Amino acid sequence: MPLELGLRSGWPDSLRFLLQRYPRAIWPGHRNLGQLGQFWLQRHQMFKELAQMLLAGTQELIAGRLDAATFNGWFAPRFAFFVQELQGHHQIEDQHYFPVFMRAEPKLRLGFEVLEQDHDTIHAALDNLVAASEALVRALVAEPAMVTARAEAMAAAIERFLPLLGRHLEDEEDLLIPLILERGDATIR
Ligand SMILES: [Fe+2]
Ligand SMILES: [Fe+2]
Repeated sequence: MPLELGLRSGWPDSLRFLLQRYPRAIWPGHRNLGQLGQFWLQRHQMFKELAQMLLAGTQELIAGRLDAATFNGWFAPRFAFFVQELQGHHQIEDQHYFPVFMRAEPKLRLGFEVLEQDHDTIHAALDNLVAASEALVRALVAEPAMVTARAEAMAAAIERFLPLLGRHLEDEEDLLIPLILERGDATIR
């Protein structure tokens, strides 16, 4: 079973033993979810919503319902925030949390290694998004004839990105939330 992002559709059975004990249905309101687990889920939700919002806004531009200046003023700061926050989130996972989780449950090590590789895949895809956004912003400012084509390329890039991001976030949650529920978040830090 391939575990690379873009090929896998969830974890193999060998990495699901905690998820089977702590299925998603019991996560909300579980007393061990704690601040750390809630914060994690909220950050992931924010990334998904923001990416969807950036796509919807770009589609509004393509449909001609937003003018260039209004769109640019809305899009540029939100896109920059998205890229910066996602990179920061991955950095703290790679440097701090994943090593802590791997020590806490060595049987999940493979999963955390896969998630680290996901971050590299996502960063390569983010580079494409950044290039598409820069081309779009250039068109918005100085090449009006190119706006629609650049906006379509931006929307296509986000549409390619969304399933990768969604798969990564869901699998990460499936690995670490059950671990937090089993141990309590105080012992994980
Ligand atoms: Fe991650
Ligand atoms: Fe994450």
